[in-house]
Amino acid sequence: MRIATAIYTCEARGDNPRGANATIMARPKTLYTCTECGGQAPKWQGQCPHCGVWNTLVETLATPAATRFEAVAGTRSSVTPLASVKPRATARIATGLEEFDRVLGGGLVPGGVVLLGGDPGIGKSTLLLQAGVALGALHRTLYVTGEESAEQIALRAQRLALVNAPIELLAEVQLEAITAAIGATSPEIVVIDSIQTLYTEALSSAPGSVAQVRECAAQLTRLAKQRGVVVIFVGHVTKEGAIAGPRVLEHIVDTVLYFEGDPHSSFRLVRAIKNRFGAANELGVFAMTERGLKGVANPSALFLSQHAEGVAGSAVVATLEGSRPLLVEVQALVDPVQGGMPRRLAVGLDAQRLALLLAVLHRHGGVETSGCDVFVNAVGGVRILEPAADLAVTLAVYSSLKNKALPRRSIIFGEIGLAGEVRPVQRGQERIREAAKLGFDIVVIPNLNKPKQRIENVEIVVVDRIEQAIAWLRD
Ligand SMILES: Nc1ncnc2c1ncn2[C@@H]1O[C@H](COP(=O)(O)OP(=O)(O)OP(=O)(O)O)[C@@H](O)[C@H]1O
Ligand SMILES: [Mg+2]
Ligand SMILES: [Zn+2]
Repeated sequence: MRIATAIYTCEARGDNPRGANATIMARPKTLYTCTECGGQAPKWQGQCPHCGVWNTLVETLATPAATRFEAVAGTRSSVTPLASVKPRATARIATGLEEFDRVLGGGLVPGGVVLLGGDPGIGKSTLLLQAGVALGALHRTLYVTGEESAEQIALRAQRLALVNAPIELLAEVQLEAITAAIGATSPEIVVIDSIQTLYTEALSSAPGSVAQVRECAAQLTRLAKQRGVVVIFVGHVTKEGAIAGPRVLEHIVDTVLYFEGDPHSSFRLVRAIKNRFGAANELGVFAMTERGLKGVANPSALFLSQHAEGVAGSAVVATLEGSRPLLVEVQALVDPVQGGMPRRLAVGLDAQRLALLLAVLHRHGGVETSGCDVFVNAVGGVRILEPAADLAVTLAVYSSLKNKALPRRSIIFGEIGLAGEVRPVQRGQERIREAAKLGFDIVVIPNLNKPKQRIENVEIVVVDRIEQAIAWLRD
């Protein structure tokens, strides 16, 4: 270890020790840094010696951060007035998959780094192979596979009918070999499948550990910015649904995309969680077929189940996902509790928000659910993040409790406040129009979203308070 340290030191001075000493694997000096307080220790310990928190020490390179990140920030450049900096119009690189371009905010950006996360087997490799092949026709594309062999990728390409695919493969997990290959072949687009399989010689931690993931991602990001290469990382998702490895991964990259969807249905959603080059929360919708992922251009009716008659506990909400309205059926089941604590379960909706809505329903609507289990579900594996679903969730709960169905072909949207008021949501008109287009003829909406002109064949019910919405359903 001491020898390695010495070699590293002279490397830092500019003496290249390669050659005579090259047979000794020089490992740069590493330290253990606390993820809580940033304190450092020379050896791993269970408890941080500085702040006393447990299990926060992570292996890091001992090199000062300033030299390691120089290239990203360009620390050597001088201070310039913002007004004198000419913004370069970034030419977007279209991926050939329209829905993928949509979530990316119009395509890939040279030098941009994208992280694509998602559950195992949801279709990450499929999507990137399809996009890579389409891109490869015009831009040199390198697909680095650390999880599957080149033969497995070839097999997938064959299944997806991607013949004579103009894409280059590299089955490699060592970071230094990958950066060397990028240097040698100068690709414009690099796919890393996946970041958790990579490791750098510089750290002794295992691949997939926080230290390795962070270091490999940081180095590749630096390379992307230096060379103007697009780098796309595949990231695994932990059981809790976060991208495995450090949260910092999400901060390092420019764009974070998540694959969502019910594994039992063929629909797959790609959502932009963060995007430095476009709107966040944009949604791309795909269907998984034998021939790979196919974009769904008009997804608004995908998340409705077909009931011949009105069913108690079902309400359809018009939500807005990115730039498109989406109609989603929300289902609720309210059932007397069978001994023990009443349960509240939300699938595809926020469970905390459900608790809040039940409290508002009790306090302002006079509807008691404390003796009941309450389950709510957004149909089709979609996740609804916006509070515009509040009114639909509340009415679905009430409908199930009273076993009274909402009128067929009705849609609902509106946010509910703690005082029991129904608040307007953004772009109400668009939501109503989408519903009308799909044959919905009753809309229940916040008073402040009332359209100025009447809409053909649509009955509009406006409510100011939760009591009014309940009265509408009751009567
Ligand atoms: N022969 C086939 N016909 C139809 N669909 C298939 C076939 N083989 C695989 N698939 C689909 O492709 C999916 C696997 O996709 P892919 O390998 O791209 O996922 P991934 O997200 O990269 O998974 P991992 O995290 O394991 O790498 C399967 O879940 C299945 O839906
Ligand atoms: Mg894969
Ligand atoms: Zn600490």
